[in-house]
This record gives sequence, structure tokens and C-alpha cells, in this order.
Amino acid sequence: KMDQFVSALMKKMTLEEKIGQLNLPSVGFDVTGPILSKDVDAKIKKGLVGGVFNTYTPSAARKLQALALTTRLKIPLLFGYDVIHGHRTIFPIPLGLSSSWDLALIQSTARAAAEEASADGINWVFSPMVDLTRDPRWGRVAEGAGEDTWYGSKVAAAMVHGYQGNNLAANNAVMACVKHFALYGAVEAGRDYNVVDMSERKMRQDYLPPYKAAIDAGAGSVMSSFNEINGVPAAANQWLLTDLLRKQWGFTGMVATDYTAIMELTNHGIGDSTEAAHLALVAGNDMDMVSELYLNKLPKLVKTGKLNISYIDQACRRVLEAKYKLGLFADPYRGISEERAQAEIMNPQKLELAQRAAEESMVLLKNKNGTLPLKSNAKIAFVGPLVKDQRNLIGNWSGAGDWKKATSFWDVVNAQYPGAHFTYAKGCNLLDDTALINKLNPHDAQIVLDSKSAEELIEEAVKEAKNADVAVAFLGESFTMSGEAASRSDIGLPANQKRLLAALKKTGKPVVLVLMNGRPLTLSWEDTRMDAIVESWFGGTRSGEALVNTLFGRSNFSGRLTMSFPRSVGQIPIYYNEKSTGRPFDANQKYSSKYLDIANTPLYPFGYGLSYTTFKYGPITLDKKTIRTKGNITATINVTNTGQRDAIETVQLYIRDIIGTVTRPMKELKGFKQIAIKAGNTQTVSFTISTDDLKFYNLQNKYTYEPGDFELMIGPNSQDLQKIPFKVE
Ligand code: IFM
Repeated sequence: KMDQFVSALMKKMTLEEKIGQLNLPSVGFDVTGPILSKDVDAKIKKGLVGGVFNTYTPSAARKLQALALTTRLKIPLLFGYDVIHGHRTIFPIPLGLSSSWDLALIQSTARAAAEEASADGINWVFSPMVDLTRDPRWGRVAEGAGEDTWYGSKVAAAMVHGYQGNNLAANNAVMACVKHFALYGAVEAGRDYNVVDMSERKMRQDYLPPYKAAIDAGAGSVMSSFNEINGVPAAANQWLLTDLLRKQWGFTGMVATDYTAIMELTNHGIGDSTEAAHLALVAGNDMDMVSELYLNKLPKLVKTGKLNISYIDQACRRVLEAKYKLGLFADPYRGISEERAQAEIMNPQKLELAQRAAEESMVLLKNKNGTLPLKSNAKIAFVGPLVKDQRNLIGNWSGAGDWKKATSFWDVVNAQYPGAHFTYAKGCNLLDDTALINKLNPHDAQIVLDSKSAEELIEEAVKEAKNADVAVAFLGESFTMSGEAASRSDIGLPANQKRLLAALKKTGKPVVLVLMNGRPLTLSWEDTRMDAIVESWFGGTRSGEALVNTLFGRSNFSGRLTMSFPRSVGQIPIYYNEKSTGRPFDANQKYSSKYLDIANTPLYPFGYGLSYTTFKYGPITLDKKTIRTKGNITATINVTNTGQRDAIETVQLYIRDIIGTVTRPMKELKGFKQIAIKAGNTQTVSFTISTDDLKFYNLQNKYTYEPGDFELMIGPNSQDLQKIPFKVE
């Protein structure tokens, strides 16, 4: 039916109208690149626009859709938007949310975002970002699910299911756009937009599966990436966008470029703007975001016989099919409704979800002598520029979220514990490096320098700490320090923040460090000096409430890292599933693979996080010692909550394939289970894995498993693991 409908419509379309469908300008409030689209209303009226993005209110969407419906063929517009971690109700940044290891929760946040966004007129979200990230210098690690292929694939699928629901045409569904295809997370040196050079085996083994998982989950669209891959920019990469994506993976949806990527092909140095438009279309990009080179260059290319119109037909068909699947031909105003917006946006269920998501995302990195939870009857000095901050709570790329709707930690804690002995001192500026401040956003009130000197600020904080039982410092990054175009070469806390921590430490009082930031930081210095460290990311609309609950122990910490925290930037790239090398690490062997000045291991490994309780893992038992063809094996372990508090534990399963035709990682995550265990209780956890879980791209580039010796490992994180051998025949 869709085929017939689209074919009939396309028969009526002129070349210009078909090319118009491929045009995706930005109109509205947000700018995410150097160019702003012009005269969009006029172009819509001429049928020269297929979709717009950055419009996100019911009235604005309705107005633009009405313009599109005045055109000859009345083809409705797509309305895209960067809904990254919530639309109006803001959830933790994706890296934070991934630390929950709660796939149902992650899916619910995407569903909630779809409900809000669709009411606001959006039918297409530029999410999920599934780029695998192993370099925390790259600012966009904040937008992804971390370093692991298997886990990243699960998160990718959960997000797509959440956005699209069971029926893309439903009023409250939005089409997902998997990005950035591909390998954007592997940009050299963590510098944004930089090049990627990678073997095809590594791509297929490590980096491509999350995109594939999102596509298998039904994602309706894909965004091609800014980076080049092995010398060919993704936006002009026919192998990537056609051979791999469509022919090998069978993707039938729509591909859009990332912003002015077609125009940027000239900077890459592979041709002028006419060639750029030609190459991008033939490679497989259906929609041109912002550059308007399709609009300006394709007509002449066809008329002069240089471009076969079949490429335009194909791209136009995919755009129209996307609109059809979304139900836009049946109802161009689907979902757009002030009433729905009223009912959906920031309703109590969504706010409760935001709070749960924030609590589940926080990771307790250190807790010496039970410094946490805080006691509400203690004298507590809250210090740091983020104690009273609202703006940073919702983090970077918080879409249409309003930071004023997030209550600061300070306001929540005082409202919840009236009459408590809490004091506040700012202690330091969030940043005092004026050159950096100017690059970020000099108008951002949160990073405007205080009128008091650094010494005065520290002195005030020290005074409060001395009078208190414990000092709690809220520090980290400004929200503008992570995200797009926010790469850093030094990923430590700014020097002025460290000076405050050193002064607090000198008081002799216990010091708790509560972090807000968008990437793994180097925290070796802090780890040796602080009594407790909490990673709260940018936790979203309800993170103030969530922080009060976790810090005072009303909720337990259950978050686990999905990216390794390096000891120093010199270790980057760093990830848990590394290979052995021919000279594996040996502390006593000079000629082994190691650093002279630092351990190989990260400070906090993948999968790591503490709780207010402790767990003991019993021995692993296997139901058999050997898996035969197409068989499986079940591993069982008892986990005991040996502490005083009920808790959630994330039990993790890793495997090692000891001998392969190509070298294999020393461990790979293949499963996890989140279990609630009451204090003093024991739970039995079982995992079943089959030969499918042991597959990899072997010497012949065949995705298969190879019989031989394996190890199965279970534990609370990627480092503290028990092992047991098994065989595959
Ligand atoms: O979706 C984004 C992308 O992640 C980065 N460049 C701009 C796009 C649209 O805003």
C-alpha cells in the first residue's frame, strides 16, 4: 500500500519538487552549526522543503505544516529535533543514564521524551547517539552509552523502542535517527570532527554493532557522520551508506546528513560544492541538512546528464516513505496538540521517572569509613559553585528543557531538612581561566567570575568547614565543557577547584566530593585525598532531589560506570576489553607492556560503582564443562548482601576466548543481571550463554565462533572477577 501511494505521488512530482523533499533546513531556536537557514517559509510555500528541524512548539509546527499544505501536492513536513536526554522533562545525560544499567528505565525515558516531543509537534528525533567512545577527551562521550559494544547495542535498541513504540504512526511516537554513522566516537586524539582510520575487522567487531542493533530494532532513519573513514568522508562514503548499510544490513529507511556535512566535503578536499552534492547523493544521503547544496546543485546535474535521476527518485521515495510510516499523509498534524502538551509535558509520572533515572545513574566512586550517607542532624558545610546551581543540573543539549524548572540541591536540601545545621560557601569559581570562559560562553551566569578573590572564596569555605562535622564540595565541569565541539586535552578538575579541595582537606574534616560533569575525569589526586566521591553527571530536571536522597541515604547508590576513568590522559584510549599483547603486563618484567610512571589499569574501571552495602560473591558453578555445536552453558553464582542496607547489585558476566585465528580481548561483557537483595540475604544468579555469544570476525572475516578453550568470569565490575574455564567443541 505504501509503495503504491508513494509511486502515485511521485508520478505527479516535478524534478524540483522531488529535490525539495530532500531539503532539511533549520528553522527556529537552536543553532548547532555555523550556518542558519534562510527564507524557510518562502521555500516551504514553493515546495522546496521536505522537513525542518529546531521548531518545537505546537503553534510553530502547526503554522509551518499549514504552509506546506498550501503547496500543489500538499506533502506534509517532517519536524526533527535534537531530543537527546528528554524533551521538556530532562533526564540524566546519556552517559549518566547508561550508568544505570537499567534498560527498561532507559527505554522509559525515551518513551517519555517521545510523548512530550510529539505533543510539541516533533515527529523525528536525532537520537540515539550510539557512537562507541573510548576517549574521554572527546566532548561527545556525554551523549553516548560508553565504551562497550555489547552493552551499547542493548542501550541503542532500548532507545529506539522507547522513541518509536510499537506503531510509528501513533500520535505519541517519533521516528528515531541513529547517529552518527559511523565511527564518530573514534575521532583521532578525541578532537571533534577529526579523522578516523580503522581496520574493517575492528569496525565490525567493536564499533558497528550498536548502529546495527538500533537498525534491527527498527530505527526509521540514520544520520551520516562528520568524520572521514579511512580517507573517505562518511557523508560521501558509498561503501558505508550503501554497500554496508543497505546491501549488507538491509536498512530500508532514510539517511540524513549531519548539518552542513555536504558543504564540508569541500573542506575535506574531495571536490567543489557541485561534486560534493553529487557524491553525497550517490553515496546514499537522502536528506541534506542545512547546506542546501542538493537544492542548488542537483537540478543542473540532472539536466546536464551528469546525474541519473534515479538517485533523486530513490532518495525522494525514502523521504516520502518515512512520512507515510509516520502517518503524516493521513494526518499532517498528528500528535500536535496544546491539550496533549498540557497533559504530557512534565507531568508527575515524568518527574518521578526523572528522579528515579537521576538516582539510578549516580555512581559512588569512593566511600572511606562510611563517610556517606550524610546525617541530617550533623553540621554540614556545603561548598562549591554547583551547590546552588540550576543551569548545570540539566546538562548540555537539554533540548527544549527549561533549567529553571530544576531545583538546586541547596533549595531541595533546605526544604527537606528545615532547621538543619547546613551552611553554604561558594568556595571558588567554577572556572577561573578567563580564556576558557570566553571560549565556552561568557554570558553563562554560572561561569561569570565572582567579585571576591579566589583567596577570599576559599577562606570563607574553610571557615565553614572548620565549624562543621563534614564538608561536601559540589564541583566539576560547566555543562558547556562537554558535548559537541567541547574536546579537552586535560580532563582533570580545573586547578582552582583543586585548590579549594586542598584547603578543605587541610582542615582535617572529612571531605565529600560531589561531581557534575559530562565525561570521565582524571581523579587520581582527588581519590587519594577525598573521603568520599560521588559521580552525579548532569542528572536532569530532578537531580537536586535525587542528590538529596542518595547523599542522605534515603536511596542507595546502584550506578556502575560504562566508561573507564583513566588515571591520566596519557592512558587514553583506555577500555576494559583490551588484548593481551605478546608481552602482557608484568610488574617485575621491564620488557612487558606497561608504563614506567603509571599503572595500566584505570582508576575506576568499566562496570565499577559502590553501594551503601557490601556484597560477597560465592564460587561460580557451571552446569557442564563443554558447549557443543549450537548448545549453551549455564553459570550460576550466589551473591550475598553482607551489609546493613537493602541494595541493587549489577552482576556482570564476561568471557574470554583464549585462542583464536585472530587475537581476542582478555574479557568481553556478555551479560548482566540487576538484582535487588535485602540486607543479609543471598540470591542465586544464573546466566546462560550459547555459541552465538562467542562469535567474532575471524581471520577470514567470517562472523563465527571457534571451538577451543574459554574462560567465563563473573563479578561486580570488569576488574574484580572470578573465573572458570569451559570448552567449546
Ligand atoms: O543532530 C545533530 C548532530 O548530532 C550534530 N550536528 C547537528 C545535528 C542537528 O542539530
